[in-house]
Amino acid sequence: MARLAVNVDHVATVRQARGIDEPDPVFAAGLAELAGAEGIICHLREDRRHINDRDLRLLRQTVKTKLNMEMAAVDEMVDIAIDTKPDLVTLVPEKREELTTEGGLDVRAQPDHYRGTVERLKRERIQVSFFVDPDPGQIREARECGADIVEIHTGHYSEAKSEPEAIERFGRIVRAVESAAELNLGISAGHGLNYVNVKRFKDLSQIEEYSIGHSIVAMAVLIGLEEAVRKMLDLVKSF
Ligand code: PXP
Repeated sequence: MARLAVNVDHVATVRQARGIDEPDPVFAAGLAELAGAEGIICHLREDRRHINDRDLRLLRQTVKTKLNMEMAAVDEMVDIAIDTKPDLVTLVPEKREELTTEGGLDVRAQPDHYRGTVERLKRERIQVSFFVDPDPGQIREARECGADIVEIHTGHYSEAKSEPEAIERFGRIVRAVESAAELNLGISAGHGLNYVNVKRFKDLSQIEEYSIGHSIVAMAVLIGLEEAVRKMLDLVKSF
């Protein structure tokens, strides 16, 4: 049965809109866990636009399930990860001007760099996941670099403008999941998933974990965080 991990970045986005200390993503993580979330995710960006160093430190102290730190593969973040010791690091590409992560890692462009990053993290017993487009070539390269898990980027699927486009983009995800399974990689999926488009994943049983943030936080504004998490859990657990 697939797990649901909740990304709390956008609780911090609301806090940063006022530059004060609420709502607190650390408190939100505790509530999400109480509602049944099986992991908590946060992305410490270079510009600290939402999650900051204090959040990451307190999340490490309080998360009882599994803490997944999303980060760029740069020295500053690797040092922070080694110091903080999340259970899992997810390597993502990061561009200063983007609104959110736009694409998967281009592992093939810098395999030595990614291999070195994985080695440093694994030496500290931190599992490593690579966020990649549904592209079997990138998945193979991630495996070569030592990734334990690949998180398949579902953002392009979630942005499909028509049913034929959604079917075609979902087909790429299915093929990517098959190639990751053949390589014995752990398989997660995330980005842009919501209460409607996640239903298409019902029969993709090789996906072990869904990483979902924005749609849960958006729903939480209307119906409360615990209820929003439970509604998503009901879907994921029915797969
Ligand atoms: N997975 C990765 C690697 C991400 O960068 C993000 C966005 O922070 C997510 C999952 C969650 O995406 P969303 O907020 O659209 O659910």
